[in-house]
Amino acid sequence: MVKNNISNIMVIFGGTGDLTHRKLMPALYNLKYQKILPENFAVVSIGRRDKTEEQYRKEVLESVKNYSRFDIDEKVWQDLSERIYYKRFDFVYDNGYMELSSFLKELDEKYNTKGNRVYYLAVAPEYFGIIVEKLYRHGMVNNETSWQRVVIEKPFGEDLESARKLNKIITDVFTERNTYRIDHYLGKEMLQNIMIIRFANVFFEPVWNRRYIDNVQISSNEIVGIENRGGYYEKAGALRDMVQNHMLQLLTLTAMEPPVNLDTESIRDEKVKVLKSLEIFTPEAVEKNVVRGQYAGYRQEDKVSPTSSTETFVALKVHVENFRWAGVPFYIRTGKRMPEKSTQIVIQFKPLPGILYFKEYKNLLPNLLVIKIQPEEGVKLQFNAKVPGAGDITIQPVNMDFCQNCQISNNSPEAYERLLYDVMRGDSTLFTRWDEVEYSWKFVDAIAEAWKDKTPDFPNYQPGTWGPKEANELLLRDNRMWWNV
Ligand SMILES: NC(=O)c1ccc[n+]([C@@H]2O[C@H](COP(=O)([O-])OP(=O)(O)OC[C@H]3O[C@@H](n4cnc5c(N)ncnc54)[C@H](OP(=O)(O)O)[C@@H]3O)[C@@H](O)[C@H]2O)c1
Repeated sequence: MVKNNISNIMVIFGGTGDLTHRKLMPALYNLKYQKILPENFAVVSIGRRDKTEEQYRKEVLESVKNYSRFDIDEKVWQDLSERIYYKRFDFVYDNGYMELSSFLKELDEKYNTKGNRVYYLAVAPEYFGIIVEKLYRHGMVNNETSWQRVVIEKPFGEDLESARKLNKIITDVFTERNTYRIDHYLGKEMLQNIMIIRFANVFFEPVWNRRYIDNVQISSNEIVGIENRGGYYEKAGALRDMVQNHMLQLLTLTAMEPPVNLDTESIRDEKVKVLKSLEIFTPEAVEKNVVRGQYAGYRQEDKVSPTSSTETFVALKVHVENFRWAGVPFYIRTGKRMPEKSTQIVIQFKPLPGILYFKEYKNLLPNLLVIKIQPEEGVKLQFNAKVPGAGDITIQPVNMDFCQNCQISNNSPEAYERLLYDVMRGDSTLFTRWDEVEYSWKFVDAIAEAWKDKTPDFPNYQPGTWGPKEANELLLRDNRMWWNV
């Protein structure tokens, strides 16, 4: 196995699609710009639209101009653009794969890529299985003297059963080690930082447990609605689109035990343990602990049913049932058409004993640690301090604020840069292992099942608000509140 040979040809199925233009091509350009992309490298994009290679390269250039974090450097672009090829064929027919196979061999000669491949499936989920089977049938996966890896976009299935079927099809062809399930949140800088904040700081590591932490709030909010993704969103909803993957990934990184070392499997093992420790809700528990919402106006969006029951908002309270977290609620909230765009984790610490300042000044605010994932990246610590002055003591909360991407000179890498590079070098730490997917679906399926036969009273929140009032009540009844900090 040629693990460290990163020379490769990246084959993008769905090369004319939105993801390729907005994320993948700009990420490849950014890698090239930073001289990280392997010398021996080429891209073959596949779509159905009729266009010449020249046209395709021009369109990619426009996308790179629009979405790359670096300006266009003529020399860098030239070098990349000459390595981008476009092939037109329909995924469902065999003849395209036969041509692709011989074309890739030609490119291997030209770029000395030795048969190594990244097959990136930037396509609708119903094509995942077909493409993988045909790659196998046409001899494009062997993993003997070269490596072949497959990258699967989310969503990975629409429930546990469909995810299992899909996984079987994929792992009949690609080993687990060569299967890269994307959750692009894992490529974000601050997500990678959570473990470092927790395990490389004496301020945080010893207090990261039920003795000191009162509750954890994980939120991901968007100002925008579903934009033009009605067809997809109607089937997914916020539970499948956000909770099953991104929100549970944030939870696992916040709650996991320190891994025995930093290798891929040790980290993933700890994440899986968290998912296994989640309480699986009964229908009664769903009723009590999960709130769903839909913004007013959703039913009028393009490709959305006028009587749709799809949720655009979910808030829930869950416990991680292990020794570290016993009794500590984790509140999760995600929604569209919220007042702000933000993804963050708020750790609320317990108050000190009710003596001294806590007796004299009853309403002291709790200490908070806020890990800001996006759009601002950083860490904020809120604690109590004296207001300067000679009179009576007044206590106020103050903030120590580390903002990683506030300086103009900072130019944080895009998640897809990191992820594409990791696939090429064979590091799957930031991708989800099958058992992570499996346990996440178990948790989410219990909620979806309980919702199935009940018609929700939608729409139930106005755009620009923090969701339905029940989401606030979920915390108020525990004498807590959401921290919109
Ligand atoms: N866009 C995003 O930001 C985003 C984010 C997260 C996950 N994803 C996931 O990424 C995947 C792709 O999303 P997308 O937004 O890029 O979709 P998209 O814009 O609809 O693109 C789909 C691509 O698939 C190609 N295609 C479809 N059927 C084909 C066929 N039978 N034969 C050959 N080519 C075919 C299309 O080619 P032609 O148009 O040329 O026919 C197009 O290139 C989906 O699984 C989605 O859930 C996307």
